[in-house]
Amino acid sequence: MRRLVRETRLHPGQLVLPVFVAEGLEQARPISSMPGVVQHPIAALPEVVDQAARAGIGGVMLFGVPLTRDAIGSGATDPHGILNEAVRVAAKAAHGRLTVQADLCLDEFTDHGHCGVLAGEEVDNDATLLRYREMAVALAEAGADLVGTSGMMDGQVAAVRAALDSAGWEKTAILAYAAKYATALYGPFREAVNSALQGDRRTYQQDPANGREALREVSLDLAEGADIVMVKPGYLDIVRAVSEIADVPVAVYQVSGEYSMIEAAADRGWIDRRAYVLESLTGCVRAGADIVLTYYAVAAAEWLRAEAAGL
Ligand code: PBG
Repeated sequence: MRRLVRETRLHPGQLVLPVFVAEGLEQARPISSMPGVVQHPIAALPEVVDQAARAGIGGVMLFGVPLTRDAIGSGATDPHGILNEAVRVAAKAAHGRLTVQADLCLDEFTDHGHCGVLAGEEVDNDATLLRYREMAVALAEAGADLVGTSGMMDGQVAAVRAALDSAGWEKTAILAYAAKYATALYGPFREAVNSALQGDRRTYQQDPANGREALREVSLDLAEGADIVMVKPGYLDIVRAVSEIADVPVAVYQVSGEYSMIEAAADRGWIDRRAYVLESLTGCVRAGADIVLTYYAVAAAEWLRAEAAGL
């Protein structure tokens, strides 16, 4: 009876797995602040993608971890940079079974760790857009189905859309990190990408105290051509509000810190991992998300399949 009358159903097809691919690795390197999550060598990527496809999830979101960095993040636009290579390998392995998504941001590639290029001490918004345009085309050429504009620069969706269209990549879609907050919950991600960041991102990411501003950010991204709008981290009041105004799919990113908190509590036996993971992801969908990025994507898909089989 409970299953029959359930209001919210979580499905593997709406889950996306973030994947870290590191240059120069011989074997997977554990991320100590995210137990169970690793940096993968590129050689392992076909197997990771295949496992995700067999689990029936909707996509993988790739992050590249380069060996060298510079002020403008040259590795991001180099066709042989780690992320572009990873997209190429993943697209081949996916073979249309799931979407290949790529983080469109410079932070993994800059020696200062910021999401854009700097002018003095500050991020130069418009100079960064030029770099994003070039990066978008490189990712599309490598085979990305979606590019995730995660840098929170003003005008980034319009710039990327124009660059993709004029290079003939009209079908490459934009997953806009529309309402992205400057949260302490990205802490473990810094280790996951060997981030060089000093300081913080408060000049371009949102204040966690602001809700109305999220709707303004989403409206701007929609007007600029976003195909999917994302809320990050899992602030469910914001997800609800965004889902009420967006006429495109809404995504939410259950970020590294959320993952690590669940893992820490589950590891101590304080909460039931499987039950809480499914509950938290269902909560995202109940709040209005159509798509959830989560480090638990494959595990959750397997648990959902077991649940459907009555296990
Ligand atoms: C930026 C980016 C970040 C995350 C995803 N894309 C870091 C940041 O903005 O500081 C964080 C994801 C997570 O914490 O799981 N490229």
